[in-house]
Amino acid sequence: MRFAHRHLLGIEHLSQSDITAILDLAETYVEMNRQPNKHSDVLAGLTQINMFFENSTRTQASFELAGKRLGADVMNMAMQASSIKKGETLIDTAMTLNAMHPDLLVVRHPHSGAVDLLAQKVNCAVLNAGDGRHEHPTQALLDALTIRRAKGRLHRLNIAICGDVAHSRVARSNLILLGKMENRIRLIGPPTLVPSQFAEFGAEIYDDMNEGLQDVDVVMMLRLQRERMDGGFIPSEREYYHRYGLDAAKLAQAKPDAIVMHPGPMNRGVEIDGTLADDINRSVIQEQVEMGVAVRMAAMELLARNLREAA
Ligand code: NCD
Repeated sequence: MRFAHRHLLGIEHLSQSDITAILDLAETYVEMNRQPNKHSDVLAGLTQINMFFENSTRTQASFELAGKRLGADVMNMAMQASSIKKGETLIDTAMTLNAMHPDLLVVRHPHSGAVDLLAQKVNCAVLNAGDGRHEHPTQALLDALTIRRAKGRLHRLNIAICGDVAHSRVARSNLILLGKMENRIRLIGPPTLVPSQFAEFGAEIYDDMNEGLQDVDVVMMLRLQRERMDGGFIPSEREYYHRYGLDAAKLAQAKPDAIVMHPGPMNRGVEIDGTLADDINRSVIQEQVEMGVAVRMAAMELLARNLREAA
């Protein structure tokens, strides 16, 4: 299977068969990651640099582990302490790193579009680990793999994405991916957090959880992203939890075998009930983390194959 891309900047650029190619290869890494020997050498000799201009726990750890398990030399740049603080621009930092000949650059940045811009300036493959509220492609891919494994397919499912859609790159990448794979998507949340323009993605919009969750197969919850809010988007956390927080009573509207997802980090008692998040019969939140490592291994392998062919 040919994966004809130099970078992984967004789901927007991927076809159905690109998505399937990544997920199929990731399946082999799910198996490998469950073995005592989790090592392969498909990235041996290659240098991977992780540049996170925004805080991250799971995504950075996941990319680091993915690179190490595939045998790459992995370096994490401490961006908080970097020259950016001394006034260097993003592009200057990127050009400096580029001169050290990395092969894979994993970048997270608070501004939408910053990762695309950077990709135009460097010679290596760039993977977007989240840019502003624009895209977070590996998150959508790991969510897709989690859904495909739990439901046995990735098409013709009813999927609800709930909460702070407006500020979420996770929601945007998922809307694009799940739409490309021909699923029916509902967005549920208050109009301040689910603006009507999102209907352009072909999604149905609801502001009532009990109505929106009727008969869905998948419930994807989102974190209330206060760091991206510059005003009063919700009355209070208590009121928000009452109307939009996922608990067992609201989940009862969904199909009896519906799965519950959350990209993390979670605000327990704000967008999701803590007990439900930990309920291994309904919640696949830990599987999402597991799938994350496998999907990132697959994405980096496919990009590395193209690098080697081009060399
Ligand atoms: C998400 C992100 O950073 O966009 N987290 C993640 O990558 N696991 C979602 C979030 O921060 O709410």
